[in-house]
Amino acid sequence: MGVVEFATSPWGQTVPIHIQFALIWVFAIAGLLFLIGHAIWLRFFAGRDEYESSGASDRASSTAGIPAKVPRHSLAARLFHWVMAASMLTLLFTAFAPKLGYQFPWVTYHWIAGLVLTASILFHIVHASFWMDFWSIWPDSIDIEDAQRRWRRATGGVAPPPRKFAKYPLENKMYHLAIVAAGLSVSLTGLFMMKRVRTPFFTRNPYLFGDLTWGLMYVLHGLAGVGLIALIMMHIYFAVRPEKLVITKSMITGSLDRDHYLEHHDPERWTLETNVRQAGGSL
Ligand code: HEM
Repeated sequence: MGVVEFATSPWGQTVPIHIQFALIWVFAIAGLLFLIGHAIWLRFFAGRDEYESSGASDRASSTAGIPAKVPRHSLAARLFHWVMAASMLTLLFTAFAPKLGYQFPWVTYHWIAGLVLTASILFHIVHASFWMDFWSIWPDSIDIEDAQRRWRRATGGVAPPPRKFAKYPLENKMYHLAIVAAGLSVSLTGLFMMKRVRTPFFTRNPYLFGDLTWGLMYVLHGLAGVGLIALIMMHIYFAVRPEKLVITKSMITGSLDRDHYLEHHDPERWTLETNVRQAGGSL
């Protein structure tokens, strides 16, 4: 089985037309294997989280001044998250249910949800650039060094314990990178693909690009789409894991319990001043 399905154009050229839809199963099974592997590793092999004790964070933990509920996500950030989640699930359902045999007129629902996702991504880019702590979600040198320490300790080597996290652990930052790549790929290609279908916005024009360009666009759209099946499965799995429920709750209430904050986060790397600016402010 190949990754791409080809067809012969009216001019006799062999051109890609879209992904092989059996990839839906490949990515769903890959996602499932990841969940099972992770759950086994956590249950039987992973040790307790240990962090390097930093004078600063210990001092901070003993000082008052950290509120019982530490602000984590502003109302705008939470609304973005849930609008994006609803549109993403709608897109996955409308795209793949018909391919798996459940037939309905999916295209209109699909591009409407696509526009909602694209608008929410644009909002998020502006919001994150001007109101949020933009760099908090990108990996930094401390994350890389701590990942190396964690790896050495997990494989029997000698290394000091990693430091406590800033706002986001490295895994969340890497996940965000993958979602950025897949989300931007489906949105940009999807916007062009709207020219191929009937919408109230403009006249349909399937000749905007040649067969090869359209084919590659459909392939990229489909590959990012099936990638999102595995990514969303992982995201939901982590959201419902018992030890992560406190984080999931913060995406509803906007705040984290002080104990959790002090146990896992370094107040010097994720300062309360940043918290208040991001979550306590109007945006
Ligand atoms: C989770 C995100 C998305 C997934 C999983 C997804 C998946 C898919 C799939 C599998 C197809 C069928 C492609 C084919 O037949 O080769 C498709 C078509 C399409 N998608 Fe998406 N898509 C997503 C996001 C978007 C977005 C954001 C937009 C618009 C901004 C969009 C607009 C379209 C359009 C217009 C079509 C073409 C329908 C046609 O030519 O019949 N999609 N999508």
